Amino acid sequence: MADARPVGVFDSGLGGLTVVRELLQKLPGESLVYLGDTARVPYGTKSSDTVVRYSLSCARFLLRHDVKMIMVACNTASAAALEALETRLTVPVLGAVGPGARAAATHSRGGHIGVFGTSGTVRSEAYVRAIRALRPDAAVAAVACPLLVPLAEEGWIEGDVPRLVIRRYMDELCALDPAIDTLVLGCTHYPVLRAPIAAVASEVLGREVAVVDSATAMASDAQARLGEMGLLGESGAPGGARFFFTDRAQTREVGRRFLGAPLGSVEETDLDPS
Ligand code: DGL
Repeated sequence: MADARPVGVFDSGLGGLTVVRELLQKLPGESLVYLGDTARVPYGTKSSDTVVRYSLSCARFLLRHDVKMIMVACNTASAAALEALETRLTVPVLGAVGPGARAAATHSRGGHIGVFGTSGTVRSEAYVRAIRALRPDAAVAAVACPLLVPLAEEGWIEGDVPRLVIRRYMDELCALDPAIDTLVLGCTHYPVLRAPIAAVASEVLGREVAVVDSATAMASDAQARLGEMGLLGESGAPGGARFFFTDRAQTREVGRRFLGAPLGSVEETDLDPS
């Protein structure tokens, strides 16, 4: 029996639309409810207690829309709040860190893995733990790249400015481990900068580096999890997505960049039950 309830996805803002983009491709029959907490973004610079509190309020909002699964597209929220969400919620919860770590552990030939993420994600060491759980021999080096989020939001994704900023972070990563062979983009925003990141990585490290992200891996995980639990929606019927934001300013213009298509209608919510 098909389960027609929607899948809920939340993020601190608009970057999580990179996950929606993958989901729409992989699971076109599922209905999606997306919540971007644009009024409180960024999460990456906040304390983990605050990120847990914000994440729980996002999850409660999605539950009011009768979602059958919650996907935490935000890497910072996954790093800080996944456990709290799993403990408190009765629907399955899928984070971004596990799938990203798995993609890295699978792709890496030599076990030298770099992670780019927000300050909160790097400070939590969630990727280090998740990768080592899969590959205990792996050397994992992580660098916080706070400037990549505003660059991605402004659409400065090619040319000298992003390359120079990426170069600074890549030099830092190379100083920690010059043998990096795989780099995880551990933040919702970085996939739109994949091309300059890959180019600068091979320039600095002097070899091809596999660049992986959690968005693609999350969509595959969602498909597998829904299948295992008998929660898949009707195949064939197009599902579609509803987009909610806690502040709607610029959501259409900036959101389009991450979704790769126009958002259609956007709705604003203050997260409180009406
Ligand atoms: N969504 C966040 C993440 O993936 C990036 C933006 C923020 O700092 O809130 O970590």
